Amino acid sequence: MDHARLISARARAIDASGIRRILELGHSLPDPINLSIGQPDFAVPEPIRAAGARAIEEGRNGYTLTQGDPDLIAAINGWLTKDLGWSCGTADGPGSFVTSGTSGALTLAFMALLDPGSECIIPDPYFVSYPHLATMCGATAVACDTYPDFRMTAERVEPLINDKTRFVLLNAPSNPCGVVLSTPECHDLLDLCRSKGVLLISDEIYDEFCYPEALTDAAAGDASLARPPSPARLAGADDAVLLIRGFGKSYGVTGWRLGYAAGPREVIGQMSKLQQYTFVCAPAPLQRGVIACFDVDMSGPVDEYRRRRDLVVERLSAVTKVAAPGGAFYAFFEVPPKMGITATQFVERAIEKSVLVIPGGVFSERDTHVRLSFAAPMTTLERGLDALVDLMS
Ligand SMILES: Cc1ncc(COP(=O)(O)O)c(C=O)c1O
Repeated sequence: MDHARLISARARAIDASGIRRILELGHSLPDPINLSIGQPDFAVPEPIRAAGARAIEEGRNGYTLTQGDPDLIAAINGWLTKDLGWSCGTADGPGSFVTSGTSGALTLAFMALLDPGSECIIPDPYFVSYPHLATMCGATAVACDTYPDFRMTAERVEPLINDKTRFVLLNAPSNPCGVVLSTPECHDLLDLCRSKGVLLISDEIYDEFCYPEALTDAAAGDASLARPPSPARLAGADDAVLLIRGFGKSYGVTGWRLGYAAGPREVIGQMSKLQQYTFVCAPAPLQRGVIACFDVDMSGPVDEYRRRRDLVVERLSAVTKVAAPGGAFYAFFEVPPKMGITATQFVERAIEKSVLVIPGGVFSERDTHVRLSFAAPMTTLERGLDALVDLMS
């Protein structure tokens, strides 16, 4: 049978070759220094593991409600009240529901908000899925060029909004740059979206990883309140912001596939309707597991990541340009122009030294920068930095 003839234009429109090539090259290395992984390297806190295992033993293995386990929804709503002042779960408050990872929430948001021919605005550099999700909906992701400081400001977004625009997608702390917006920048972006009548989606999957200088003014100096600025925290934001967060990166459970979305009731209602006919529900026993997350203190691992971040910035900024990451666990550094090579060529040279990093062209229309993940043990990081600095010196 000619299977190629059966494949949809939607699937054909997506090219995953860039990242696959790097992963394949990586697999062929005997002892790779892997700084390419977007996954935390700390152990999952015991109370979370225990709660997940207990739920399986207790027989909580069937479907949950499409919206999620009621106890988890209550825990999420309680946290959103504390963190953002939102009143999810009340009669007039915003809606919220549990999703299959942050990717599940993003997929449903794109499906609920985009028609063929409509547009959304995403940052460039972007998380790899964003443009493809728009393509899958027959829509266009318009890239907002954020070079060289990687800040998705209202000033940069405004010229891109038109009648076809349905939403602006902000990701802070960001993948691949680690950049966190300031509260005034969040304010201006939210104001712009409100004035144009488009939704602001805030992908906050890295919200637990925020380093002191990027904290809100209110939280600065108090490590227990280490929260990055968010447009969702601004007055009246629950009417204009669709908040998307995840548990995977924050607690080391990326394989559990759990996240949540909160925002205007109409949007959340449409997204959970689509969940009913696609994902059905998020993994049931693991939903019980992540309830424990809300009582776990992650300041130890976050502190360790800050130390690694400091080392990365110190070593790389001696040889090239790198925007200091205020959050997440990535640094996005420039391939020194004097080398006269693309980021892909740089990564090929790094691989010859057994170092795995990702070329910027995977995340961007430009191939001038490289993403390094510092979610790797200090010894691995030091070896990798030695080799990369050597290449750029
Ligand atoms: C910015 C961003 N959003 C969403 C995701 C998807 O996360 P999840 O594993 O929760 O689906 C990732 C994963 O790397 C990411 O970096």
